[in-house]
Amino acid sequence: MRIPEAKIEEIRNSTNIVDIISSYVQLRKRGRNYVGLCPFHHEKTPSFTVSDEKQIFHCFGCHVGGNVFNFLMNYKNISYIEAVLEIAEQAGISVQYEKSEDKSTQSELEILYDINLIAAKYFTDNLLNNPKGEFAKSYLRQRNIKPQTKRLFGLGYAMPVWNDFYNYIIKNKIDVDKTKELGLIEKRDDGSYYDKFAGRLIFPIFSTNGRVIGFGGRILEKDDKYAKYLNSPESKIYQKRKSLYGLYHSKDEIRRLNKTILVEGYMDLISLYQNGIKNVVASSGTSLTEEQVQLLSRFTRNIAVIFDADIAGYKATERSIELLLKNDFDIQIVELPDNEDPDSFINNYGAEEFDELVKHSKNFLEFNVSQMDKKGILSNPSKQTEGIREIIRLLALVSDDLKRNLFIKAISKKFNLREKLLENELDLALNRIKRNYSEVKTSQTVVGNKSKEYGKLDEIQNEDQIEKEIIKLLFANEQEITDFIIASINVEDLQNKNYRKIFHTVWENFQLGNYSTAQIIEAIKDDNLKNLVLSLSLNDVSISKNWEDDLSKEKINKDFYRFTYETVKKFKLKIIKSKIKINNQKIENSDSEEEIQVLFLENQKLENQKLEISKKKFINDKLSEANFD
Ligand code: UTP
Ligand code: MN
Repeated sequence: MRIPEAKIEEIRNSTNIVDIISSYVQLRKRGRNYVGLCPFHHEKTPSFTVSDEKQIFHCFGCHVGGNVFNFLMNYKNISYIEAVLEIAEQAGISVQYEKSEDKSTQSELEILYDINLIAAKYFTDNLLNNPKGEFAKSYLRQRNIKPQTKRLFGLGYAMPVWNDFYNYIIKNKIDVDKTKELGLIEKRDDGSYYDKFAGRLIFPIFSTNGRVIGFGGRILEKDDKYAKYLNSPESKIYQKRKSLYGLYHSKDEIRRLNKTILVEGYMDLISLYQNGIKNVVASSGTSLTEEQVQLLSRFTRNIAVIFDADIAGYKATERSIELLLKNDFDIQIVELPDNEDPDSFINNYGAEEFDELVKHSKNFLEFNVSQMDKKGILSNPSKQTEGIREIIRLLALVSDDLKRNLFIKAISKKFNLREKLLENELDLALNRIKRNYSEVKTSQTVVGNKSKEYGKLDEIQNEDQIEKEIIKLLFANEQEITDFIIASINVEDLQNKNYRKIFHTVWENFQLGNYSTAQIIEAIKDDNLKNLVLSLSLNDVSISKNWEDDLSKEKINKDFYRFTYETVKKFKLKIIKSKIKINNQKIENSDSEEEIQVLFLENQKLENQKLEISKKKFINDKLSEANFD
């Protein structure tokens, strides 16, 4: 199969190497570049460098380097095509393979991006250069928005008539259906079209990589007939729950400061940014989603939440706190004076006062207590218990033991309650979480197996067994074994989520040169996982007992290494077999000749790999000389 060059280029342009690598390697800004610990060799000081400008990476220690595809190939041990497809999938770009000579035309998504870009330019031009844009210009002046801020955020204006943009796209032969799909125009019952954003001030919404994926539009004159803001609908290139307004502009500063400030509105973000507070993102009026939190976590896990000082703002803050806690964020809550929002505050009081406000932010415990105080919950003895339980329920979401303890101490002092009492309550809450978690797990297993016959059930348990052995081996405190396993196994191939997390932690430590179980255990923050590792590495590792036997250490090592080799081999074969099986299912269900062809080819490759691996033998008793490449 062949992917057209232009397509590959499109896929490469859809992504940013810094973002991709950041999801695997922790990067810090240094000068024009980003640096981190090289994932391809052990090092204690970072020599792994990524250039945002040139979209390449290079390690000055071990000399690997290349573009974003090369990184994935090396990192995940996958082919060039696989790397291209992976990025394409992330960017939501569908790939057609070249059949014969015909050059592929522009992909559907590219057309959508282009229409948005054309629209954004049209809106900007109205605002900056068209005399009829004066109304919007004066509105922005009145709101203290500087000319360079307008340009930086690509602000624009949709003419206050119902067909100016529609006429523009007709004149420029732009696809009407696709423009409608993007929510820029709408069809009336009589078949005619009108501009959706007419008369509004326009805020283009950018993807993290800087492409225009949607728009927000604000009315300029108060009119109860229309919503204050109109936003683009969901489309193939805009999923609201996955995007954060302003992140494209603020991501560098967020990384640099290792902290972000979350606000509600477009204007809040722009006003803060223009006043030099550039590590801001905006949720655009709703409470955060899981996807947005995960997106943010690629840049930082420290967040200051500033929602408007109104009821809706408090509700949104409360919901966001829970989600952020679950995702290991350190949260501060900044409270504004009544009826202010960040935009009005910074315009009324200035940046210094704003910094002061952030400095005096509350942690989530203080915030909840003050909220309850306001509602009178804490002065009412019958409600107080419920209030404290609610706080403890949130506290149980914090995965860091030490932090939890500090909070317990603080609550105990604040309410004059014995710590022991609170600890018991916390244990109950933790157990509830654990129970929910295992219920989810068992129900998943049941659903997963229901349709399968017994033989397959057996196989699944077996698979888990192999993964378990691998995890145990990782904690054997034997560098040669850890080296070998890490070099041979992709973390993504592990099916068990817990094992995957553990493997990942071991891998991270391995990058730092840490092999000792004690050190790694410390790095595992989740108590459940920690316990799992402890039980795996202490309970029934027969081999560690053998160290004490009178067999020579050399002999044991030999068996131990062979055992490791065979286990990894079994695992690799299992993975390949299951990939083949999945492909076969797809082949059965597919009615696309082309797809079937691709799947056949893939299976052929997998069959070859399977054969190669099964032929491999453990020789010389040395893991350092063994590999499955
Ligand atoms: P706000 O009502 O707080 O507006 O909504 P704002 O951001 O302070 O705007 P200005 O200062 O009045 O111009 C906060 C955010 O909620 C979303 C928008 O993203 C807005 O920025 N929103 C609000 C909507 O999507 N639709 C609406 O009708 C209102
Ligand atoms: Mn506002």
